[in-house]
Amino acid sequence: MAMTFSFYPQANTLQNVTARTKAARERSLASSKSDVVGNRVVMEEYLYLNLPEQDKSLAVQIDTALLFVTAGFETTAFTIEQAVFHLHDQPTLLSKLHEELVIAIPDSHLIPPWSELEKLPYLSAIIQESLRMSLGAMSRLPRTNTKHDLHYKSWTIPKNTYVGMSAQFTNYNADIFPDPYTFVPERWLQSVDESKRLGRYMVSFSKGSRKCIGIHLAYAELYITLATIFRRFRFELYETTRRDVDPKIDYFAPKPEHGSLGVRLPVR
Ligand code: HEM
Repeated sequence: MAMTFSFYPQANTLQNVTARTKAARERSLASSKSDVVGNRVVMEEYLYLNLPEQDKSLAVQIDTALLFVTAGFETTAFTIEQAVFHLHDQPTLLSKLHEELVIAIPDSHLIPPWSELEKLPYLSAIIQESLRMSLGAMSRLPRTNTKHDLHYKSWTIPKNTYVGMSAQFTNYNADIFPDPYTFVPERWLQSVDESKRLGRYMVSFSKGSRKCIGIHLAYAELYITLATIFRRFRFELYETTRRDVDPKIDYFAPKPEHGSLGVRLPVR
């Protein structure tokens, strides 16, 4: 065993994000925009954004950084964990993906752009199934209509009432996704129409006007990361079971049960 990768998110504590944001802010205050050669990290750029003054306070900047971490990183990382775990748990699926990637990417050092990768049917099915299993957000996402009552079947929901539902109830609904706790990429490959139909019920990014604003970045990250790691590396799971990937705890983003060290893989 040369080295062990852990996909378990380490950077999500309030303390860590607060410290990094303060450091980035100090670096930013110590320089001016014109001093910079090359790229700044987002939090160094923050004070130069066209924002109202009250939104430039340290407290708002830390909240923004936390939103980035929880909304942008943990969701994507947990989706990648689903793919990595389930493909190793069912090696025939991994072989199928590998075959597709070897043909599409003859030189493993030249990973094609996302626009090419998204044409790969098996990789796409794996990404959809990993998103379904990962849930996106585990919490009930509250919505309210401030203008009108809502009508649903025989119920009237008065305006200003908060209504929310966890993605579990649709993503793991056996009437829509048979055998919902099993990782089955093939369910997304039956036909274009069926895949579109299932997509209507896969709510990992939520739906409607407040759905994930980072959806395209998330897909780009998923395609490029999964194509790259599965084309370039061979892994095997190290002391990892379903308890390390099944959503159990609702920290807004889902987490596996307490004590889990996440998905661990020695790199060969
Ligand atoms: C697999 C990856 C991702 C999943 C499953 C996911 C899921 C979600 C969900 C379910 C929501 C709706 C939350 C709500 O209704 O309150 C949301 C919102 C949001 N997401 Fe993502 N997300 C992902 C990646 C990203 C990325 C990469 C970014 C950007 C860096 C991002 C930024 C945001 C933001 C800013 C919102 C709030 C949008 C608003 O309130 O209008 N997300 N995401």
